[in-house]
Amino acid sequence: MQSSHAGSVASEFPVQLKGLGKEYGHFTALKSLDLTVPEGTSLGFLGPNGAGKSTTIKIMTNLIRPSRGHATLFGVDVRQEPTRALARIGAVIETPEFYGYLSPLETLAYAGRLRGMSSKEIESRSEEVLKGVKMSDWADHRIQEFSKGMKQRLAIAQALLNEPALLILDEPTSGLDPRGMAEVRDVIQSLKGEGRTIFMSSHLLGEVQEVCDDVALLNHGELLIHGSVRDLSRGSDTSTFQTSFLRPPTPQDLEALASVPGIVEIKNEGDSTIDLRISGGEEGQARVLEAMVSRGLKVITYRPLGSSLEQLYLDRIQESDRL
Ligand SMILES: Nc1ncnc2c1ncn2[C@@H]1O[C@H](COP(=O)(O)OP(=O)(O)OP(=O)(O)O)[C@@H](O)[C@H]1O
Ligand SMILES: [Mg+2]
Repeated sequence: MQSSHAGSVASEFPVQLKGLGKEYGHFTALKSLDLTVPEGTSLGFLGPNGAGKSTTIKIMTNLIRPSRGHATLFGVDVRQEPTRALARIGAVIETPEFYGYLSPLETLAYAGRLRGMSSKEIESRSEEVLKGVKMSDWADHRIQEFSKGMKQRLAIAQALLNEPALLILDEPTSGLDPRGMAEVRDVIQSLKGEGRTIFMSSHLLGEVQEVCDDVALLNHGELLIHGSVRDLSRGSDTSTFQTSFLRPPTPQDLEALASVPGIVEIKNEGDSTIDLRISGGEEGQARVLEAMVSRGLKVITYRPLGSSLEQLYLDRIQESDRL
């Protein structure tokens, strides 16, 4: 397969995966993944444990080889020309490991030399990236003293060292405390503001909704959905409403509710509280509330559970697991 040459670079996608597959022995972790990320977009790469996210990211960063298919970054095939393919990217892979006896400054200097940066460049960039992840005060400390969250921040600093046009992040906020998470999200937001392309896996749907333009949902090594967060959030037809009543509903009430059009499922959460899964979007939600009130049920609260992205995620995963 021919990779592109200078001149056509601007039209090349930061990420293009074609028919990507991976077997570990007899186990298929990734079937045949096609995925393209346009310049300047941030993609949230979602899926349950074992879906194949890290496998995909490791192939993209040339840590493991695919069993089939191709991964290209800015038009350069990762297998064929790894150095050139990885030159414009920064990556944070699952639980980063560092040499404990080195300091962040020494670690960054080492990483910078590997990437062919000059000492001067390394010095000024190191200061900048450590500041960006709020680790300036620890620049000279040995990493063996660091908490998991501090190591994660250092990993992000390292990924930013060469001002990458594409950032590949595998669960960038995992293991961070709430404040650390918010800080890392801020860093990612500002990188996005600078027009960089971001490919990040995450289990935090709220985070993805906040940071990402697009989402791709993977399950058992297969892509279930790929689209913009906004469209997908709007497109979810069913939602769950937690409903509580002044008095517990009788079995007869529940039976009557089950036959109200639009109610897909009723889950008892306690004496006076039920979770109603409702289809038909907002119209459906209004009809269900009306039906309950007209039956004489005294509704105290009626509130949606989880974000619409979460609903969509749960629906699609459940649907694909059933097949
Ligand atoms: N080196 C390996 N040898 C054998 N099986 C592996 C190996 N690495 C991953 N797997 C299997 O491949 C599947 C996909 O793993 P992967 O790490 O890509 O999932 P993931 O989506 O990143 O999950 P998580 O959300 O838990 O990080 C899992 O079933 C895992 O057990
Ligand atoms: Mg993973």
